[in-house]
Amino acid sequence: MDEQTNVKVKILRYNPEKDKKPFWQPYEVKIEPDATILDILNEIRWKLDGTLAFRRSCRSAICGSCAMKVNGRNILACETPMHRFKGRGLKIEPLPGFRIIKDLVVDLDSFFEKMNRVRPYLLLDKPIPDKEFIQSPEEFEEIREVCICILCGACTSSCPSVWSNEEYLGPAALLKAYRFIFDSRDDAADERIDIVNDKNGIWRCHTIFNCMEACPKHIKITEYLSRLKVKAVENSI
Ligand code: FES
Repeated sequence: MDEQTNVKVKILRYNPEKDKKPFWQPYEVKIEPDATILDILNEIRWKLDGTLAFRRSCRSAICGSCAMKVNGRNILACETPMHRFKGRGLKIEPLPGFRIIKDLVVDLDSFFEKMNRVRPYLLLDKPIPDKEFIQSPEEFEEIREVCICILCGACTSSCPSVWSNEEYLGPAALLKAYRFIFDSRDDAADERIDIVNDKNGIWRCHTIFNCMEACPKHIKITEYLSRLKVKAVENSI
């Protein structure tokens, strides 16, 4: 086992039931140098301070529940080693742009409500086939990358257009709309385009690229949203 090292961590704490406003709480943690941010949070919660609240589940960058902001960047705590921050102290905050429920746990209701607005499931005019839908490799390639979104909220939380207008659908919901509009099996592209071609839809994306930088799956979100804009214009004429 590698020799343990001391890490200085500041965590933005907030319990709305007793704190007037969020405050930075410092901790010092002794841990292996290859520890992840989630390992550090677990160490704090299990050994130093059982009141610290954060979400985690899969520990494998799949469930999307451990997204948070560390040293100014939205990341997944379970997949991010602390050495990515190169010996600097760590400042850990909840995802920006969402109401804090407690400490690093934010209220994602608005995020999933926007996701629901684009109707994130296949809508069909044709009868459901007896067996599976046939989709060619080329057709699947159109949506392959966007299908790996894990709904962590890191992109939407990093978007200044979302910060300035909470009604804006945001990158994750728009990406989900793309996923079905360009799915060869779906029959509701026009309906979905009407939803995204709205004053709070795709045109609020100003190609800032924060979403792409924040995405832990490296999805080229801005590129897909640009294709969505082209599709919306084509449909209008
Ligand atoms: S714990 Fe599931 S993505 Fe991090």
